[in-house]
Amino acid sequence: MDKISIIRPDDWHLHLRDTPYLQKVVEHTARQFGRAIIMPNLQPPIRNCSDAGAYRQRILDALSATSSFEPLMTLYLTDHTSVEEITKASQSDFIFGAKLYPAGATTNSDAGVTNLRHIYPALEAMQKHGLILQIHGEATATEIDIFDREKQFIEQSLLVIRKDFPQLRIVFEHITTADAVDYVSLGDEYIAATITPHHLLINRNAMLVGGIQPHHYCLPVAKRESHRQALVKAATDGSNRFFAGTDSAPHARGAKESACGCAGIYSAFSAIELYAEVFEQAQDFSNFEAFMSINGPGFYGLEVNHGSIELEKTSWMVPDSLDYTNDQLIPFKAGETLSWKLVDHD
Ligand code: NCD
Ligand code: ZN
Repeated sequence: MDKISIIRPDDWHLHLRDTPYLQKVVEHTARQFGRAIIMPNLQPPIRNCSDAGAYRQRILDALSATSSFEPLMTLYLTDHTSVEEITKASQSDFIFGAKLYPAGATTNSDAGVTNLRHIYPALEAMQKHGLILQIHGEATATEIDIFDREKQFIEQSLLVIRKDFPQLRIVFEHITTADAVDYVSLGDEYIAATITPHHLLINRNAMLVGGIQPHHYCLPVAKRESHRQALVKAATDGSNRFFAGTDSAPHARGAKESACGCAGIYSAFSAIELYAEVFEQAQDFSNFEAFMSINGPGFYGLEVNHGSIELEKTSWMVPDSLDYTNDQLIPFKAGETLSWKLVDHD
């Protein structure tokens, strides 16, 4: 097999930042994907429908005139998100969810939720109106080991949310552990998960062996190899409640290579090829199209994209760096060889 054609895929978890950085990254995603859920953790965050509409317009303005890429917006939940705003969001035709960042969990999460009880009215309204809850699932108490934060979140928070809102549709974002895979697999049709290409391709050694590798640091952090293997199995096995979400998170090289390097891996440049690498290593492409292009729209209640993309088996090298407004952006797998390449149709 040296060519694969699949329905145009979607990215169900993407950070695009804002002007002028947005202009540097959005085309990387748009040349591969039909749609993407655009994360709202700007500074200040996207907390209401009017900010989401304005941000969406800036994204559309940054795209080339011929692009048909569609940004799908989501609201940033805070302790003060009102039922009215959720109702408005569910009636809009461009907002597809609301994101729970536990305060302090990750990049730009300071305005996030300090206590789940504060968002109960919003969650109630989301369940009622069918608006999807996207969750950064990490417990934040300082005493919790960083490698245990996802598992702890399931036990302390996710079980509670699911018990109190059994018909709220939830995407457990960027899962990194076998515990999360098991939790989602054993769940019902109201829970699904996104998996990033980096958590499918690296374990924590890539971040810590041979010196600290800041370009492999993201949140949730990569875990041990057995967890990576559980993620690969979930992605390649064909369950319809796991789908692609890159969590591609651009940060300037200077901010990553610093005494306090920030969290985020930039995978958008070659996202589809990175996912293809995972299926190549598993020697089984039978569920590639489902994971990339079908399961996500299925869970979100949307049609699959029109059109297709083609990949060919040819090795190529990811560039060492990309231009990023007076700085550089280091793409995931920079300087390394990938075995599948997107065939550009333009
Ligand atoms: C993301 C970012 O940079 O915005 N960083 C990351 O490590 N994934 C935030 C997030 O999704 O946690
Ligand atoms: Zn993210």
